[in-house]
Amino acid sequence: MHTQVKDSVMEAIGHTPVVRLKRVFPDAQVVAKLEYMNPGGSIKDRMVRHMLRGMPAGTRRVVESSSGNTGAALAMASAVYGLDCDVTVPRTTSGEKMKRIAAYGARVHPCSVDGGPDYHATAEEIARDSGAYYLDQYCSELNRQAHYRDTGPELWSQLAGEIDVFVCGIGSGGTISGIGRYLKEQDPTLRVIGVEPLHSSYRHLVTDQRSEGAFATVIEGVGKRQPSSSFDPAVVDDVVQVPDEEALAWVQRLAREEGILAGGSSGCVSAGIARLLPRLQGARVATIFPDSGAFYLSKYF
Ligand SMILES: Cc1ncc(COP(=O)(O)O)c(C=O)c1O
Repeated sequence: MHTQVKDSVMEAIGHTPVVRLKRVFPDAQVVAKLEYMNPGGSIKDRMVRHMLRGMPAGTRRVVESSSGNTGAALAMASAVYGLDCDVTVPRTTSGEKMKRIAAYGARVHPCSVDGGPDYHATAEEIARDSGAYYLDQYCSELNRQAHYRDTGPELWSQLAGEIDVFVCGIGSGGTISGIGRYLKEQDPTLRVIGVEPLHSSYRHLVTDQRSEGAFATVIEGVGKRQPSSSFDPAVVDDVVQVPDEEALAWVQRLAREEGILAGGSSGCVSAGIARLLPRLQGARVATIFPDSGAFYLSKYF
């Protein structure tokens, strides 16, 4: 058996590169882990791999509610394992992301965003009616556990401990909570700072700042009207909010100045870092770029 050859794409998940952002942040030490280099195109490959390990024996059908990337990761894994797969997404999800899920052979269900059964309720209904295994990233303990056991240790070892602040976008909250907890266990002085779009619900769980306006964002994957229980506020020291225009301007800058074609949540976290840098005073900053700009070419570019 050739040890360099993987048995399936599932074995190609992880070991993504960490890259210095020295063109856009020339006076600071900022690095990003490029999670779009996973085979399914996002960080969610890792979480799905972990969750499927906990799947009841004999499962033939799976369902998940997703802003798109978890759905693609699950659809990819379902192709490999021969599972029947349904994915529910908000109707506003980018066309490329929906097509990507369908391309793996899964069924995509675009759901209401303004009244009527939303993507969570629809996934629950499919699970109830068909007996499918519902991964439920917004509630499952396995979400942040995947990042605590896998992504966190990988990042820590790549950085050889050279990190003072971990800055991360918040969607379900699994990534920041899992990686953040692992990093803080290695170095209790390390700070963990979340970034989300304006008027999202997480900042208030960590700080006493309240948002007055209504939550509405075009940035996919980050921000929630209602916080998800996958978010662990005990791990997070602060949360900053950024306007969509700023996040989108950073998506363009990353592509044109760093050659990093990343998604809107990567632009959002970069905008957050730019806002934070004046008060981070020479700290070594690491972040995660969860997915690729290729999934939003018709939406952001
Ligand atoms: C593009 C993108 N960025 C960021 C996130 C946020 O990650 P998490 O759900 O772990 O908070 C997601 C989650 O769906 C995502 O799809």
